[in-house]
Order: sequence, then structure tokens, then C-alpha cells
Amino acid sequence: MAEGLSPFIIFSLLISSALSVILVTADNYKDHVFGRSLDPKLIVSKKQKLSHFRFYWHDILSGPKPTAVNIVRPPSNTSASSFGFVAMIDDPITIGPELSSKLVGRAQGFYASASQREVSLLMSMNFAFIEGKYNGSTITVLGRNPVFHTVREMPVIGGSGLFRFARGYVQARTHKFDIKSGDATVEYNIYVLHY
Ligand SMILES: *[C@@H]1O[C@H](CO)[C@@H](O)[C@H](O)[C@H]1NC(C)=O
Ligand SMILES: *[C@@H]1O[C@H](CO)[C@@H](O)[C@H](O)[C@H]1NC(C)=O
Repeated sequence: MAEGLSPFIIFSLLISSALSVILVTADNYKDHVFGRSLDPKLIVSKKQKLSHFRFYWHDILSGPKPTAVNIVRPPSNTSASSFGFVAMIDDPITIGPELSSKLVGRAQGFYASASQREVSLLMSMNFAFIEGKYNGSTITVLGRNPVFHTVREMPVIGGSGLFRFARGYVQARTHKFDIKSGDATVEYNIYVLHY
């Protein structure tokens, strides 16, 4: 096909077609508005819902397939609370306290030891649900988790899918904790407002 065309001509053709793409693209966005106001009634005319979820969160550090892995290790001499350590998690969440019970999603994110005095974690995680109509929707939690307290409350700061504009809180209660392996099962109750 390119027989007879010098490499220079081919090169020029390529450059000019690339340039025309850039020019056309720039032109298409000439009237594009960067930001604009929308009527909030688009959202708030929908009925706001309050939903409650209860499930169990499995943080597995031991065995061949841990779901929580340490990614930052602080110097060993810092503190008894391991201040500074960070672990990445992809923890299964199930309907019942047994890991073998129905999987309803995963808790993905990280937690970090953020206290020099007691063991208190900064939790930053997304609950990614797979169950029923919630499949594909997420709830985002960011909060303080002093793990040896009976009940830890943390804010729901947002969500996606069915949980757009979500706010609310979670309560976490340790169901089982193996001090040797570090494996934990925690009951989570979520109270969330969404549209
Ligand atoms: C901790 O250990 C490091 C490295 O061995 C040392 O440089 C540092 O001074 C120690 N810090 C304390 C508070 O002992
Ligand atoms: C959730 O949705 C994904 C993608 O649409 C689909 O592949 C999967 O089978 C669904 N899971 C369940 C449990 O319905």
C-alpha cells in the first residue's frame, strides 16, 4: 500500500492526521462547561432510606492465604501499640460468624496503628457488597477503632451505587480474637442513610 511513498511523506501524513485529531478534539470541547448548578430536587425528591446491615468481618493473618498483610513495619522499639504499622486488607464479610457462612462482600482497604498509648487503629475501608440488589454497591468507612473496646463506632463517610450520598455510622464488636495468630472475627452493624 505504501509502495512509492517516501518515508518522509508517510511521516508527514501521520503527523498531520494526529494534529487534526487534536484540533477536532479541542473544538468539540469549545462549549464544554466545567461546572454548573443542578437542582438538588433531582436527588432529595427521592425518598431517603435508612438501612441496617449486620455481618461478620474476618481478618485473617495466619495460614497460607492471609486476607490482611502487613505492609509497613515500624521500628521494633517504638511502642507496645505497634504505632506506625499498616496492614492492607481484603477481608471476607459473611452473614454469620462462621467463615463458611454466606459471603455477602469484602472489606477492602487498610488499617494503621495510629495511637502510641493503646492499640487504636485508623480504619479506611470500602465494604464492597455482592449480595442481591446491593451487588456492586459500596459503603466507605473511615474512623477510629480502639480494638479492645467492647463497641467501636466509626463514621460512614460515603458510598456508591445504591449508597450514593450515604452517611451514617457502624458499630464494631469483636466476636472472636486469637491473640496468638491475630485472626479476628468482628460483628459489624451499619446504620446508613441513603437515597
Ligand atoms: C530505636 O532503634 C534505632 C535503630 O536501632 C535507634 O537508632 C533509635 O535510637 C532507637 N530509638 C529508641 C527510642 O530507643
Ligand atoms: C454481581 O455482579 C457481577 C457483575 O455484574 C456478576 O458477575 C456476579 O455474578 C454478581 N454476583 C452475585 C452474587 O449476584
